[in-house]
Amino acid sequence: MAAKSVKEKEAGVFAGLHIVCGVTGGIAAYKAVEVVSRLRKLGAEVHVIMTKEATQFVTELTFREISGQPVSTDMWAKVPHFHVEHIALATLADLVLVAPATANVLAKAANGIADDMLSTTLLATKAPVFFAPAMNTAMYEHPATQHNMDVLRARGAHILEPASGPLACGTSGKGRLPEPAEIVAALGQYLEKRATLAGKKILVTAGGTEEPLDPVRYLGNHSTGRMGYAIAREAARRGADVVLLSGPAMLPVPEGVHLISVQTARQMYEAAMQESADADAIIMAAAVADYRPAVTYPHKIKKGEGSLTLTLERNPDILLELGRRKRTGQILVGFAAETQNLHAYAKAKLEKKNLDLIVANDVSREDAGFAAETNEAILFARDGQEREIPLMQKTALAAILLDSVEKRLAEKA
Ligand code: CTP
Repeated sequence: MAAKSVKEKEAGVFAGLHIVCGVTGGIAAYKAVEVVSRLRKLGAEVHVIMTKEATQFVTELTFREISGQPVSTDMWAKVPHFHVEHIALATLADLVLVAPATANVLAKAANGIADDMLSTTLLATKAPVFFAPAMNTAMYEHPATQHNMDVLRARGAHILEPASGPLACGTSGKGRLPEPAEIVAALGQYLEKRATLAGKKILVTAGGTEEPLDPVRYLGNHSTGRMGYAIAREAARRGADVVLLSGPAMLPVPEGVHLISVQTARQMYEAAMQESADADAIIMAAAVADYRPAVTYPHKIKKGEGSLTLTLERNPDILLELGRRKRTGQILVGFAAETQNLHAYAKAKLEKKNLDLIVANDVSREDAGFAAETNEAILFARDGQEREIPLMQKTALAAILLDSVEKRLAEKA
């Protein structure tokens, strides 16, 4: 895979990022249009939430056109495609920006008031939040506003310093919204610092393999690829060069990820051997078929009177072979799909396949394993560490797993 150009790296930190942009009622609301436009051009998916007051300054239609997404203006309106409308954007967000942020929204956020879509989202999100305050100097300097910003900072929110200059109220002083390019640059700097996997190549396998029996039938499994795709997305978000080696899956390819599609275990084996040689970490989340039909019939098998016996033969164990070939410094991660004796079987696989980490799940549960949005797992490390990961979204599990991979990459370096 070719190295990324400087431009690609700049855009890379925003690519595929879900940014929720809150727009509140200040004259500077028009500048938020350019902020949204710039973020979108850099590859982010921007969802705008306008307060009722903001709609007095800029129309909802403007933001809808610029963002290419539906715009939320009030809490009770239905946002299509989401289950629980009023917190859907809070969960989706990788980053929340409020620009311009009025004294009012700062006060609400500091006090946990949730009386509209934006303040509810701010209370419900776990994503990093940036406020770009813009208001009259006296309001900005008022001890109440300063106190509210201190409270928000103490909770981890980021406050972008307003610029000084002429204000809409006719006076001059501190309180102007920074220029859109400066706001975007500030977010970019923050994201670059988080690009903890920049310069690393991560190979992720995902989905199940399909082993053809005849032109219309195959042996497969219930894997959907969700876990592997979530890992690939998170690794790309952290700046890695990600190769996603996937069996047939119905999922969108995460932004910035290089997809290699395969069907069978043997195809996955060939591609994995090629792509693994220069990979810094390999995460084998695919559900690889251990067996394939010994014969693939060129024509559809016609039914007969009696039973049909199929002979299956062994597929290569990709991870076992990757473990044999593991370079010094390379991190190898496996998954263990079990329905019983989770601890013992997972630990045995960790040893046998020469892994650094193994994620063990009980796939007999409905809320974990195949096809579920959530997963509960135990992370076993070669050094004996064990970590129980409670039921959570697969995206959150991906982040925990990559934290662990990063830590081990740093140790091995
Ligand atoms: N794996 C692999 N190649 C195979 C089978 C499995 O690379 N032919 C990988 C999986 O991607 C996973 C790990 O090995 O990361 C464990 O897979 P799992 O199906 O849980 O175990 P198996 O090794 O196949 O053992 P068993 O089926 O006996 O449980």
